[in-house]
Amino acid sequence: MREFIQIAKAQAAPPCTVVIFGASGDLAKRKLIPALYNLHACGENIAPRNYAVLGFARRPMAVQEFRESAREAAARFSRLELDSECWRDFSARLDYQSGLDQPDGFRKLKARLEEIEAARGLPPNRIYYLSVPPEAITECAERLAEAGLAARPGAANFTRLVVEKPIGSDLESALKVDSALREYFDESQIFRIDHYLGKETVQNLMVLRFANSIFERMWGARNVDHVQITVAESEGVGTRAMYYDPAGALRDMVQNHLLQLLALIAMDPPVSLDADAIRDAKLNVMRALRPIAPGAARAQVVRARYAAGGIDGRNVPGYAQEVGIPAASRTETFVALKAFIDNWRWSGVPFYLRTGKRMPERGSIICVQFKDVPRILFNRERKVPPNALTIRIQPDEGFSFEVLAKQPGLDIALRPVRMNLRYESEFTGPSPDAYERLLLDVMIGDHTLFVSANFVEKSWEFVQSILDEWSRDAAFPLHEYPAGSFGPEAAERLIAEDGRAWLNP
Ligand code: BG6
Repeated sequence: MREFIQIAKAQAAPPCTVVIFGASGDLAKRKLIPALYNLHACGENIAPRNYAVLGFARRPMAVQEFRESAREAAARFSRLELDSECWRDFSARLDYQSGLDQPDGFRKLKARLEEIEAARGLPPNRIYYLSVPPEAITECAERLAEAGLAARPGAANFTRLVVEKPIGSDLESALKVDSALREYFDESQIFRIDHYLGKETVQNLMVLRFANSIFERMWGARNVDHVQITVAESEGVGTRAMYYDPAGALRDMVQNHLLQLLALIAMDPPVSLDADAIRDAKLNVMRALRPIAPGAARAQVVRARYAAGGIDGRNVPGYAQEVGIPAASRTETFVALKAFIDNWRWSGVPFYLRTGKRMPERGSIICVQFKDVPRILFNRERKVPPNALTIRIQPDEGFSFEVLAKQPGLDIALRPVRMNLRYESEFTGPSPDAYERLLLDVMIGDHTLFVSANFVEKSWEFVQSILDEWSRDAAFPLHEYPAGSFGPEAAERLIAEDGRAWLNP
């Protein structure tokens, strides 16, 4: 085995209480409880030696019932198999409090927290994880403050607030949510989650770019022809119509996950590995991201929604026929767009972004396509395929570099071949789930993988330039694509008109 170079060791988290707001919801069950259990299973070098998890939701429930539903969730969604002894030890830390929607609910929460801390000998280090509908975020922050639970940063203990996307539904509302949060909490206390940043392959983007000298030298307009980012999902809207229909793919995926990937792929080397330095470098990309100019959206943005079709041999309904979608809905489940970053490094290089639901399979990739070799030597008679670096975010995590090689034989024939790294075959040991990484970082107080207020604002500014065009141009097309396809013809044309083609995951 080759040696590895440890840059930083995962720190053990300090004693604390994690309060999960909306503890009976989907996110808590699918992600938060399993992630906390997995951290617990890592042992004391990672999990805090002493901690508690307090579920806080609306309906009354006995602690035992909460623990039981947590066990079911962890058994179903945890990447690790449940070990009975480990589970016993973990579940003894779980508590529950109802009354999230009650006038005296937050007062009761405070009393319960104090009781738990006293009984367990815990310092008042508190993490409030707001796994609540977006419109409830501000109210929760306000009620925490009213109840005296929003202590400002102090030397001895910490109070931290974790918020999930979406933050706002447009630029104006995002700014409002943010200023409301900052009325009660200091920026250093706020952790805005974008779970893509916790994915192993996304964290690897910086290592790939800045720990290898060959890529950084080629990274920019001089050598790169264009960049593509595709985040494809095979799932449809599922049971999330109430959240998804008012949002749509642009707000749900582009404003956050895709723009985070764009920032990581395009940023300049940060001056250090400090959270602020990295977040500044990413923010600079957003500052240089050219908004879609009035009148340019038709040429640069394609929106669409899935029609009935087939995935994995089964028929699936179109978006408009899904349960809970209003008849008059004009929501997009697919967006493709062409963007430009107006800085020296990327001047003139198009970034093509694409995301959609009900595509043939789940797959997120970033493809950096390099420029053609000059039209001499091998490239003289017929254009040969350019080099491309394809980073597979998920699944089949890894990356490949496409180059040309001589096909063995008496002829001179070129063949594209791939140098391919697959996580599965190269690395042993499991990758932690994104939420494990992120929850641990909140406990430690490391902001590196969280979204800054400025980034939220800048990303909304870009998205707002598209939303404005969509509302100004009432006839802006909403294309349809059959479920099980990679999107509408119009998205193919968007890139084909530039003499390029999408690379499918
Ligand atoms: C969420 C979106 O943020 O990300 C969902 O709200 C989407 O609509 C999900 O399905 C995708 O996450 P992942 O980790 O499955 O790629």
